[in-house]
Amino acid sequence: MLNDVITMIPVYIMGHKYDVPLGLTILKAMEFAGYRLKRGCGCRGGVCGACVTIYRRKGDYKLKTGLACQTQVEPEMYLTQLPYVPANRALFSIKSVSARDSDVTVLYPEIMRCLQCGTCSKACPMGLEVMDYVAAVMRGDLELAVELSMECLMCGMCAARCPAELSPFNIAMLVRRIYGRYVLPRSPALANRLNEISEGKFREELEKLKRTDQTTLSQMFQDLQAEKGASV
Ligand code: SF4
Ligand code: SF4
Ligand code: FES
Repeated sequence: MLNDVITMIPVYIMGHKYDVPLGLTILKAMEFAGYRLKRGCGCRGGVCGACVTIYRRKGDYKLKTGLACQTQVEPEMYLTQLPYVPANRALFSIKSVSARDSDVTVLYPEIMRCLQCGTCSKACPMGLEVMDYVAAVMRGDLELAVELSMECLMCGMCAARCPAELSPFNIAMLVRRIYGRYVLPRSPALANRLNEISEGKFREELEKLKRTDQTTLSQMFQDLQAEKGASV
């Protein structure tokens, strides 16, 4: 019956052949094929990086990477998931590092082995210029490294493909933490709001929300969205 209305295509998931409906994302195709995803699935919206998948198209020798929740299956696609990439991660206390780029190279000396080959940028499912942010860190331009790596999902594919055995995403995370703590100007509005929270200004309102039923909460949310839309 399903075949009467939907075009089915063959795909190879972890080496097994399945027929799945054309148009599904890899994530949905895997679930259609019977996989119950405990790992390799999170937000389903392209922001958490949990669903990184390696695939090869029919007739193409190249291995591609993509987010399973964002990439559509294709006929004869071979795919496998890589929900976790073991990668070197330096242990540090943010209080014991400073805003100097030399602290990054002490914690990640292997960064100096970067070959500027661009493999990491090609592997990134977010299309980030990974090689460029690594180069920015090497030059000491932490601000550019933060800017270029801001949308990193921490999926680990750049580290999995790097021939020099770097973990670009973990290096970038360190840089963003250093930048956030030591370089970015403090926001007075944020400090005020944190004070208000710790002084309990919103406690009563939060308690009230916790007692509110689902339907009322949904309506309140919709009203808020409509209000925001009207004020734009
Ligand atoms: S893949 Fe590794 S060696 Fe190549 S540019 Fe990226 S970080 Fe450098
Ligand atoms: S930079 Fe690396 S860890 Fe971040 S999204 Fe791209 S491939 Fe994934
Ligand atoms: S499930 Fe979160 S990015 Fe795909």
